[in-house]
Amino acid sequence: MALALAFLRWIKLLMILIVFQGVCVVFYYTLNTHSSRDGMRDPLQLLRCAKLRHKFSIIKPAKSIKLKSFTQELSDLMSCPYRANTTERELNRMRLQFCCNATGLLFLTKHNTAINQNILYETSTTKRYKMNAAVHSMLPEDLPWSGRRLGRCAVVGSGGILKNSSCGREIDSADFVIRFNLALINDSDVGLKTDLITINPSQITNGYKNLMQDPDPLVERVSVYRNASLALPAFAYTFCTGVSIKTLKVLRPIRPQQPVVFFSPVYLRTLDRFWKGRGLKETRLSSGFMLISTALELCEHVHVYGFWPFGMDLQDNPVPYHYYDELSPHRSMHKMPEEFVRLLQLHSQGALTLHLGPCVHP
Ligand SMILES: *[C@@H]1O[C@H](CO)[C@@H](O)[C@H](O)[C@H]1NC(C)=O
Ligand SMILES: *[C@@H]1O[C@H](CO)[C@@H](O)[C@H](O)[C@H]1NC(C)=O
Ligand SMILES: *[C@@H]1O[C@H](CO)[C@@H](O)[C@H](O)[C@H]1NC(C)=O
Ligand SMILES: *[C@@H]1O[C@H](CO)[C@@H](O)[C@H](O)[C@H]1NC(C)=O
Ligand SMILES: *[C@@H]1O[C@H](CO)[C@@H](O)[C@H](O)[C@H]1NC(C)=O
Repeated sequence: MALALAFLRWIKLLMILIVFQGVCVVFYYTLNTHSSRDGMRDPLQLLRCAKLRHKFSIIKPAKSIKLKSFTQELSDLMSCPYRANTTERELNRMRLQFCCNATGLLFLTKHNTAINQNILYETSTTKRYKMNAAVHSMLPEDLPWSGRRLGRCAVVGSGGILKNSSCGREIDSADFVIRFNLALINDSDVGLKTDLITINPSQITNGYKNLMQDPDPLVERVSVYRNASLALPAFAYTFCTGVSIKTLKVLRPIRPQQPVVFFSPVYLRTLDRFWKGRGLKETRLSSGFMLISTALELCEHVHVYGFWPFGMDLQDNPVPYHYYDELSPHRSMHKMPEEFVRLLQLHSQGALTLHLGPCVHP
């Protein structure tokens, strides 16, 4: 008797499965007659997308990555519809604001820094800089966002993956655009709009040796970014301070509409601890990763372009290291692939949007 019942149950299950499969097949065929975008609603495809999102939302050390299968799966993930997760986004915002507070502390301002305050360096526990009245008077009154939440932000790295991407229009349509290391701008691939751009102090030391006597070359270089803030890590290492203050002194009278600002070493240090506490082990975070974290706190939506640490793109074509020069990667203190794995996790969790391919225009 029990056996017969079990058999009947089994038959019933089989019937359900057959009917369900039939439905799936019908679904598959009706949907596949539409464009590939519509095809995304195909349940098998959606299931595969959910699996990929889950897979990439779990951190694995970058060195365990086998590039061939990795780029294939990544390419599949990137053709899946993006799923934003507002809860995840707000959680990240709260965590970052609580730990690091870019909202109130990203740059030194007259408001958050006092005359004669001892500024502790980001990378040292003993070295300090005593803020004098002259430098203090040149700090901005307040942060550019002063309390308001930024809308759609584009964080534009310098990766060669942007070459021929046609992403310029999309990037320029963001409300706030962040760039790095005085990267060249170009309307077709990377856009022109710039609200914040970093300068590496060594760029000034090496490229503008005669800055005090002849500021014109630097003035010309920075004026393409119009009114964007120029941000320097003046208190990361002691060698950064003199050159950063010199840059501020030279540019301020000539381009008063273009603020030169200094990252708060407290912000950068707490951010570094935040990510180290989450297993990201490297000597110092890259400025790209720092400012993506900043954007996660300040912006409603974060779109990330030009971050790709590998030598081949998703279609297996070689990718130059930077979009704007012919340099090859040098050994550095940053672990770009480890950072990239984090970005991929944030993308899969719906906290930010990574762009890894060309931008398509409707
Ligand atoms: C969104 O993120 C929250 C917090 O991490 C998580 O609990 C929830 O399951 C996510 N929602 C979806 C639809 O993935
Ligand atoms: C962030 O910093 C600002 C300025 O110092 C301060 O007013 C605000 O309370 C801080 N917010 C948090 C969450 O610590
Ligand atoms: C922009 O970049 C593309 C290729 O990356 C190049 O063909 C084009 O000439 C550049 N345009 C400008 C204005 O530099
Ligand atoms: C970009 O396009 C130019 C001209 O179409 C081509 O010569 C070049 O190889 C392309 N570069 C990359 C990195 O795709
Ligand atoms: C730049 O700032 C100046 C002076 O504050 C202002 O008149 C001008 O409209 C600004 N330009 C842009 C492109 O925002």
